[in-house]
Amino acid sequence: MEQIQIIDAKKHVGETVKIGAWIANKRSSGKIAFLQLRDGTAMFQGIVVKNEVGEEIFQTAKNLTQETSVWVTGEIREDSRSKFGYEIGVQGIEVIGESHDYPITPKEHGTEFLMDHRHLWLRSSRQHAIMQIRNEIIRATYEFFNKHNFIKIDPPILTGSAPEGTTDLFETNYFDQKAYLSQSGQLYMEAAAMAFGKVFSFGPTFRAEKSKTRRHLIEFWMMEPEMAFMHQDESLEIQEQYVAFLVQNVLDNCELALETLGRDRAILEKYTKLPYPRISYDEAIDLLKENGFDDIEWGDDFGSPHETFIANSYDRPVFILNYPKAIKPFYMKPHPTREDVVICADMIAPEGYGEIIGGSERDVDYDHLLGEIERHGLNPEEYSWYLDLRKYGSVPHSGFGLGLERTVTWLAGIEHVREASPFPRLLNRIYP
Ligand code: 4AD
Ligand code: MG
Repeated sequence: MEQIQIIDAKKHVGETVKIGAWIANKRSSGKIAFLQLRDGTAMFQGIVVKNEVGEEIFQTAKNLTQETSVWVTGEIREDSRSKFGYEIGVQGIEVIGESHDYPITPKEHGTEFLMDHRHLWLRSSRQHAIMQIRNEIIRATYEFFNKHNFIKIDPPILTGSAPEGTTDLFETNYFDQKAYLSQSGQLYMEAAAMAFGKVFSFGPTFRAEKSKTRRHLIEFWMMEPEMAFMHQDESLEIQEQYVAFLVQNVLDNCELALETLGRDRAILEKYTKLPYPRISYDEAIDLLKENGFDDIEWGDDFGSPHETFIANSYDRPVFILNYPKAIKPFYMKPHPTREDVVICADMIAPEGYGEIIGGSERDVDYDHLLGEIERHGLNPEEYSWYLDLRKYGSVPHSGFGLGLERTVTWLAGIEHVREASPFPRLLNRIYP
């Protein structure tokens, strides 16, 4: 008898198969039991009929408790009444691991309780749907960048540099030296771009930010493309094509997940339309002021109400260009005619999901860059390798970072970034 996974049921209609599964839920009457079987790939119904299986197997079925693991054998059938479309007519059940008093029941639980039980909460169909969307975004990322001749490069996690400012670094001992957990792989990706042309990274990054918002994680994963021979305008085109590609692939390949989450496909369809609007930081400030925001002045960074208002003025993601130099990192290219702004852009997601991409053209003027490193209070010696890139065949180059969990949160249409990570690290949480 062939052992299959539930997701492949459609290829085995009429066959008798074996499946390893957990009991997600169960209903039974005197003569028939309905098992919700979950194997990690999908969920479907197992029907146990007393007259067909006999007293002993039927009693086993009736006594199954939530999250008991089982071997089930039976015949795959079509089931037009269920969303999934298939079910199994159970012939045999063998208990593998018992489960008693499973803490997460179909009733409502508070968030803190669920977070304390994250190791079990992951088994729910909602979390399954979110992780499928996360997986699809990762898969589509590799497809997109491979198609466009990028090569994947893995920057180090233990570093001696602070690309995004020194305030939120995680420090650790590196034998008799200090090291930091990577905030961003960007500086290393710039070196890689000079070696390989177009590169992208995908890996964990760490920010010891004391932020307790629905958008902030302490540990998050970032995609960081970096492109040689490229100015900011072309980088923006890559960014919008990439994000639209992610949206399209989630629509195409996560149909059931979107349905489970109640995410409106028609809303997502709008985000596949290009181009995405571009407005300057100056225009964004004017827009806010014209609409009664008195709490912001030119030079301030946007807070979440500001980003949400700007985003709501458009029907798709929007780029905000050329922020004040004073609120951006040291490596951004200065504006050719203005002292006060740099050549950069953030992409703001619709529906209040906030910034999903931060990117810029990079400063390639050796002396200016050295000055900026010093002005930011960084030690030029630690950045001497980075400055070298401006000495040996320097070229215009641009790049960006897309936050994976924020993108998942947005496309899944969920409230909080904590559900977009399997084991989120939050300000007050490193358990489980
Ligand atoms: O804007 P950020 O800080 O940009 C960089 O790190 C650049 N070095 C990227 C580059 O040009 N290669 O971060 C990039 C993105 C943000 O737009 C956001 O989506 C995400 O990373 N991000 C976070 N996501 C979750 N929790 C946090 N604390 C985040 N901080 C940034
Ligand atoms: Mg940013």
